[in-house]
Formats: sequence, structure tokens, C-alpha cells
Amino acid sequence: MNERADLQAPKDITYRVRRFRPEEDQRPTWQTYRIACAPGMTVLDGLWLIKETMDPTLAFRASCRMGVCGSCGMLVNGKPRLACNTQIAELGSDIVTVAPLPNFDIVRDLVPDLCSMFDRHTALKPFLIRPDEQEQENPRGEYQQTTHDMEEYLQFSYCIKCGCCMAACPTLATDVLFSGPMPLSQAHRYNADSRDGGFDVRKEVLAGTQGPWRCHYAGECARVCPKGVDPAKAIQWMKREMMADLLGRRAPSAPAGLVTAPPAAKPRPGIPPAPARTVGA
Ligand code: SF4
Ligand code: SF4
Ligand code: FES
Repeated sequence: MNERADLQAPKDITYRVRRFRPEEDQRPTWQTYRIACAPGMTVLDGLWLIKETMDPTLAFRASCRMGVCGSCGMLVNGKPRLACNTQIAELGSDIVTVAPLPNFDIVRDLVPDLCSMFDRHTALKPFLIRPDEQEQENPRGEYQQTTHDMEEYLQFSYCIKCGCCMAACPTLATDVLFSGPMPLSQAHRYNADSRDGGFDVRKEVLAGTQGPWRCHYAGECARVCPKGVDPAKAIQWMKREMMADLLGRRAPSAPAGLVTAPPAAKPRPGIPPAPARTVGA
């Protein structure tokens, strides 16, 4: 077999999968499967192969297969990852160990119950809070925002709510009150948005026991995030804003207003008028 053919050849891989069927299992167990791994296969492809050809009872969550929907977060060889965004070859091992994300209850097999994350997320009101509710119901135009304004929050808006950061956070593992990196980074995403005026509303939750002051800045959330969101940075910026607010040094900024129409253009002197239209006149 030449070198190229060797690269294309399937390779035997062992999947160790943590199973938990609530109707029959007292505690999770491990199950092993052998699959032929073709070049380019992802961890999710391997799980689908097992489900479709060996064990239809295996439960996992996935949808887009392209790192966008955030459904397939799981522990792969000890690290929270998106199964669809992880090639088996990049793991550098003939054994792929998959388990549900830690720090969540398990619904079944590899499916975590993400309700605790989304409850904390919604408690921090992840949407624009503004006094002009009427405008939001019946918009007449766009809110003003410069490129520089957008850069203040853009990185944090890439979050796909996969829960990998929540699974990696050592504070969340030991402190059930902590909101966790995803909800906090998304609260900062809106606080930092020039169109938003909800800092004082979110502060009610953030200043309490669930807020950023519980973060020990271990940075694990930033290390595992598949979208480069860096929740640890968002949380530190949030602490800075809250401290400035406490000291009365946070400038109260009014949420941006509507884009105003540019003044009507005037023809430059000496420029001849455009010729008459010949189509659709
Ligand atoms: S911050 Fe990153 S790891 Fe956390 S939920 Fe969002 S995308 Fe996933
Ligand atoms: S930086 Fe904070 S939120 Fe992120 S993993 Fe560490 S303790 Fe958790
Ligand atoms: S299946 Fe959508 S992110 Fe993996």
C-alpha cells in the first residue's frame, strides 16, 4: 500500500461511551464499540455510525453538524468539546471516550439537561432593555451604532450556548449559586451594547451571590470555548464596570437613538444633470 492509500485507509477506533438509561440504571455505566474510522470523520460521525449500524438505543443531541447550533457539546477524551467540530484524528488516540457534559444533570446517555444554564441565562435578561418599548414593538428605523460601538460586544455575541464553558468551570462545580460563564458573558454582551440601557436592571442579579464576584478567574471557560468567546474576559470587564458603578464613576449612558436620515444630497456645481431614464420611465 502506498503512502497516499495508507492515509485514506480506515482505522479501527474504540469508542468508550458513558450510558445512562434512567428507567433501568441506578448509575451510569460504560459501553464499548469498535468502528472503522475513515479520514476526516468527526466524533459525531462516529456516534452516528454506532447509532445507525450497531446500537439505535444510544442517545445524544446534535443538529447542524457544523459547529453552529450548540447541540453536540460533550466531554471528549476529558475535555468539553463540540462533537461535530472535533475530528477523531486530532485526538491522537485510538480510544475515543465520550461522556455527557459535567455540571449538568443527565437526561439520558450523552444528553445533558441544560435547563439550569438557560434559567440562569434568562434571569439576566439577555436582550436589549430600553425605555422606548413602543419603538421596539413597531420599529420605524434602525438604532445608531458605530463599528467601534459594535466591537465592544461583538466577540461575546458569537456564543452558541453549547454549555462547554459551564462544564469546564471549577467554580460552578462547587458553587450552585454561581450563574456561570455563559449567562454572565451574555449579560456583559448586552451591558456593553450601546443600544442597551439595562445595566441597572441586570445589576440586581449581578451584584448578588450569583454574579461575577464568585468567579475565581481560573480561565477554563475561555480555554474550552469552541467559538473564541472568552467568557472569562467578559466577566472581568463586568467586574470593572460594576466596581466603577459602585464608586459612582460609571458614566450613565443613554441607549443610542434611531439613525437619522442623511441630509438630502445637493448636486455639485458644474456637474451636468443625469440623462433622462430610458427604461421604466
Ligand atoms: S461561551 Fe463558548 S463555550 Fe460557553 S456556551 Fe458560549 S460558545 Fe459555548
Ligand atoms: S474564569 Fe470564572 S467563569 Fe471561567 S471557568 Fe474560571 S471561575 Fe469559571
Ligand atoms: S451539531 Fe450543531 S454544533 Fe455540533
